[in-house]
Amino acid sequence: MEAPASDGRRQVYGRRAVRLRAGQRERLETLLPRLRVGLPEAGGRLDPARLFPSSLDDLWLEVGFGGGEHLAGVARDHPGVGILGVEPFVGGVAKLLRSLEAEGSGNVRIVVDDARLVLDALPDFCLGRAYVLFPDPWPKLRQQKRRIVNPRTAAAFARLLRPGAELRLATDDPDYGRFMLETLLAEPRFDWRAEGAPDWRLPWPGWHRTRYQEKAEAAGRPPLFLRFTRRQAPASRRKETLAGRVG
Ligand SMILES: C[S@@+](CC[C@H](N)C(=O)[O-])C[C@H]1O[C@@H](n2cnc3c(N)ncnc32)[C@H](O)[C@@H]1O
Repeated sequence: MEAPASDGRRQVYGRRAVRLRAGQRERLETLLPRLRVGLPEAGGRLDPARLFPSSLDDLWLEVGFGGGEHLAGVARDHPGVGILGVEPFVGGVAKLLRSLEAEGSGNVRIVVDDARLVLDALPDFCLGRAYVLFPDPWPKLRQQKRRIVNPRTAAAFARLLRPGAELRLATDDPDYGRFMLETLLAEPRFDWRAEGAPDWRLPWPGWHRTRYQEKAEAAGRPPLFLRFTRRQAPASRRKETLAGRVG
């Protein structure tokens, strides 16, 4: 099984084929069908209430979970929260399944596809948190349109996150870090939660180290951690409220 093919709706770039071990193939055949969430046709909506069998307290999203180290840790720490992970490449999915087999998977669901389609399919204000950790940086200028954090997805996260909920980002690429910051600061529905350097140099509480992070740190690329809060009220209404208090 490989990443979903590009069909106009999907924009998945990078490595595709992967050599799977027998155990990984078995988990993909037996465990994945129980956890996998299919996407609706173009224009359709995913119903968060139908993703998990029992009612959980909240729904959190992790985009591009890679080997799933962070996702599995968060799912373990928060058994009352449904965690929806999106990863188009089955090599990573197979690694996550291995952790879930060992640690339990009741509150995890997986979409094996392009995260942009998931963002489009979820309903407004359904998320209590979203993570995009070490997304592919696509450093060349002509490739930057492939970046998963961009003005369009920033607007999608703002639509999906409830007021007060957080979008949490990490990157080891300083240029992508600046781009993330500029993009999210330009989205009026987000506030950057930072008061000083430790806020972006150190991970937030409850962080679980990822494989990509290990590689970046070993190569001397310290990560940047960015937390944004979905504003309580649309910026225009906040401005009207403030304007009403002037004079
Ligand atoms: C650099 S890796 C980081 C993986 C993981 N978050 C970590 O920290 O180890 C970027 C991940 O994003 C995934 N990815 C790439 N394009 C994607 C897309 N369109 N939707 C969802 N995930 C995507 C890749 O397959 C890869 O697993």
